[in-house]
Formats: sequence, structure tokens, C-alpha cells
Amino acid sequence: TTYRIAVIPGDGIGKEVVPAGLEALHATADRFGITLDCDEFGFASADYWQRHGTMMPADWEQTLRGYDAIFFGAVGWPDVVPDHVSLWGSLLQMRRTFDQYVNLRPCRLMPGVRSPLAGRGPGDIDFVVVRENTEGEYSSVGGRVFEGTDRETVLQETVMTRIGVDRVLRYAFEHAERRPARHLTSATKSNGISISMPYWDERVAAMGQRFPGVHVDKLHIDALAAQFVLHPDRFDVVVASNLFGDILSDLGPACAGTLGIAPSANINPEREHPSLFEPVHGSAPDIAGQGIANPVGQIWCASMMLDHLGHPDAGAHLLGAIEDVLAAGPGEAPLTPDLHGKGTTVELGRAIADRVRER
Ligand code: NAI
Ligand code: MG
Repeated sequence: TTYRIAVIPGDGIGKEVVPAGLEALHATADRFGITLDCDEFGFASADYWQRHGTMMPADWEQTLRGYDAIFFGAVGWPDVVPDHVSLWGSLLQMRRTFDQYVNLRPCRLMPGVRSPLAGRGPGDIDFVVVRENTEGEYSSVGGRVFEGTDRETVLQETVMTRIGVDRVLRYAFEHAERRPARHLTSATKSNGISISMPYWDERVAAMGQRFPGVHVDKLHIDALAAQFVLHPDRFDVVVASNLFGDILSDLGPACAGTLGIAPSANINPEREHPSLFEPVHGSAPDIAGQGIANPVGQIWCASMMLDHLGHPDAGAHLLGAIEDVLAAGPGEAPLTPDLHGKGTTVELGRAIADRVRER
């Protein structure tokens, strides 16, 4: 099979880490006899905005629709275009239009990476956050009345639909069923948010009936956040609504070390639309153009993309190559400055691609 991949580097370090990601991706594909047909696009960037006054061409949807996956860098260059314009004009449109209702973020403390949590080493943190990505707290239902008066009132509603809640829960349970610990934790707040969150809990309990092999528990979001920091080893799969998942999926990778290595996948599990793979980090204007951005987050995304395309063996091989190179440490491997090394983006990317060919 040949897979068609749309490549969108975006802005800043996106343009530096995407080539490194592609090098490791192609090395892995060659090794496993997978054929990839990649087309690169310059939209979803400040350059495109400066030339056209929009973030994407009007026909972006038709352009991207036929691809098997989107390999995305980062978008945003606040000197040229305000962040809410660049984000809502590109990435958020793709997530919604392509119904990428699962946002999957693995949090794993890699060998050679220092956790900010005292006394934690590799093996202590290895969980995945499954975030609902299309509804929940991020609805546009609401508004303002009596503006400018002392009766000014602002309202924004949470929307939970049975289809929307059940489909992300099903994904999370299926994911938990495939992992050795088979443990799913649901993020809730049904003690305080007394209408929508009890509904979420009910749907978790109902879905749990269908997955008797998965051990389920629930924690209120405040306690859950504390447990991420105090006992990250308790977690395996964590499922959460849009807002709770957004917060947890930044906190999780932060506990597991540098932002530069964290990947994420925006998934349409039915494969009716392409899924999008992007590192958690942004365009990092403070280090852009220096060639020192850490490419590991982008390369890990390539591994997740291979999993999603139906090649988990290839995905695991690439992840193993990342682990080998990180484990070698800054003395042996050309790790980037955020990992306390002196390597460049190109050197670290090449070291991982070489490791893919050797191991
Ligand atoms: P950021 O993630 O770009 O940078 C935060 C800090 O982490 C910076 O000090 C940066 O140098 C460092 N960093 C990030 N990635 C790194 C890497 N791969 N290697 C080494 N260091 C790394 O977040 P920030 O500064 O808040 O946002 C910058 C721009 O990126 C904004 O325009 C923002 O809207 C956009 N952004 C885009 C995202 C996306 O495309 N999904 C996500 C987050 C931010
Ligand atoms: Mg976030």
C-alpha cells in the first residue's frame, strides 16, 4: 500500500522539526517496506497570511480530504498575525471539519530525560491522556447581555451529546483494553458541576459494562491534577472532557520532562477523514532560526502516525530508536540544549534516523 501524507510545516521551529521528522519517518518506512507519498503545503503559516490575508486557501478542505494523514509542525507567529486568528484560521478548523474527536497525548518519562518531579525515573510515568476534542466546555453556545451595565451577564454552556461522549469513551476503553494494565481513569467533577458531569459519569459506567476487562476509576479533576504530580505511576489511560483534557494533556507531558519531546494525535477513528499528528509545542519564536529545536516531539508524532496507519510494528521500532538515542545521553548522542546537550535539530534527527536503520 501507498499512503498519502499531507505535510504542513507551518511557522517557526515547525519548519525545522518537520524535515527531521520526515527523515526519521522515511527511514522507518523504508525499513518496513511502507510506501509514503508526501506533498508539502505552505499554508497555515504567517508567510501565507502575509501573501493572502487568510491562513488557508478557500479549498483547503478538498485539498486535504484525500490524504491518509496530516503531518503538522506548528502554527503561530504573533508579530505578524494574532494567535487567536492563526489558530482558529487553521488548526482548529482542521480538527473540527475532519471530526478529529480524539486528542491522544502519551506521557512517558523517557530514559535520559529529567522529570521535574523529585525522584521519578523511567518507568514511573507511562500513561496516555484521551481528550474529547469537539464539544464539551468549548461550545459556542452562550453570549452577553446588559453589556456595559452593572447587570452585565456572560454565559457559556457546556454541551455534551450522547454520541459525542460515548464515542470518545469507547475509544478510551478500547485503548485501555490493548494496554497491559487495562486501567482507565475518568476525570470528573460531578460533586460541583451537577448536571453535565454526573451525565459524563453515567456514560462512563454504562460504557464500562461493555468492557469488563478494564478496571475503571474516577477522580475529581482537582484531585486528579494533584495525583499527576504526586503519584503519576497510578495512571494508565485517562479520559477527559475537552477542558479537563486540555489541562491534563499539558500537565502530563510537563511531568514527563521537556515540552520538546511531547507528541499528540488528533484522530478521527472511523477514518472517514484524515487524522492530524503534531507535536504539543508551538512555533517557539524565541529559538526559531537557530537550528537547536528538539525534533523528538515531531519524530514521536511520526511513530504515532505509523501506528494509526496500521503499522504498529513500525511505530514501535521508531519509538525504540528515539529511546535508544535519548538513553545514550548528552555525552554520546547529539542531544539538543533543552536536553542539556550541544546537538542541533539536524544532528539529533539524523542520529535517530541512523538508529532506525541500525537497530
Ligand atoms: P511554544 O511551545 O512555542 O514555546 C514555549 C517554550 O518552549 C519556549 O521557550 C520554546 O523555546 C520552548 N520549546 C518549544 N518547543 C521546543 C522544542 N521543540 N525544542 C526546544 N524548546 C522548545 O509556546 P509559545 O511560546 O507559548 O507559543 C509560540 C507560538 O506558537 C504562538 O504563536 C502560539 O500560538 C503557537 N502555538 C502553536 C501550537 C500549535 O501549533 N499546536 C501549540 C502552542 C503554541
Ligand atoms: Mg493546550
